Amino acid sequence: MEIVIRPDADAAAALVAQLIGARVCAKPNLVLGLATGRTMEPLYDQLAALGVDFSRSHSFNLDEYVGVPPDNPQSYRHYMNERLFDRINIERDNTHVPDGMAADLGAEVAHYERLIKDVGGIDLQLLGIGDDGHIGFNEPLSALMSRTREKALTPKTRRQNAAMFGGDPDRVPKRALTMGVGTILEAREIILLATGAAKAGILAKAVEGPITAMISASAVQLHPRCKVVLDAAAASALSQKEYYDWIFQNEPEWEAFR
Ligand code: F6R
Repeated sequence: MEIVIRPDADAAAALVAQLIGARVCAKPNLVLGLATGRTMEPLYDQLAALGVDFSRSHSFNLDEYVGVPPDNPQSYRHYMNERLFDRINIERDNTHVPDGMAADLGAEVAHYERLIKDVGGIDLQLLGIGDDGHIGFNEPLSALMSRTREKALTPKTRRQNAAMFGGDPDRVPKRALTMGVGTILEAREIILLATGAAKAGILAKAVEGPITAMISASAVQLHPRCKVVLDAAAASALSQKEYYDWIFQNEPEWEAFR
């Protein structure tokens, strides 16, 4: 794992946008794993502004609420269309978000896993981190080998996401479909983006603490090609910042991004 700390959220988002852009340029038919949430908003603004050619790329989103139709502004499909897909030249048929309205959710999650396999697997998986340490909606105690499935959301996650539901946690759906931790770890590369002081404590536990199913983001420590990109606020509880900065300033792979 490598941890890169940028001064503020915009700079962190700009670095991740550049990394994604570079991967798509190197492999135009890249398969992207995408996340939603407030952290990703500046990233998608910057990614859209790069003007990269996504016409041959594919995407798979991590998760979707159960029971929220795709045209509802609170759905993750709507978020993705509005924040990214409408602003880049990706083919809409090549973008995938789990269908939380499917009559048979078990069949839907199996189908989602199959689609990922059929396209050759995810090349680059983008992750955020929840207040309870989740990636996707893999809430505490999610098996580190879990696959795409239906998951009940924690009260903490429903509070975290209440702003999108008129500020009322009780209006946040109780269940979601999410790629599993095992599904996520099969991506060839992972980039986790976290910004803001509210994420500092859980982020430090996830990347510097023990691997535990209680903090599903800690599973990224198992991945051989994982980058964690932070702003200074989200990095504030880390113990080895000097070392992480040295790597970013000195290792040749980062030269183009400094
Ligand atoms: C959403 C997702 C979640 C978010 C996490 C952080 O698709 O995968 O794991 O990344 O809840 O959300 P924000 O960025 O809103 O703090």
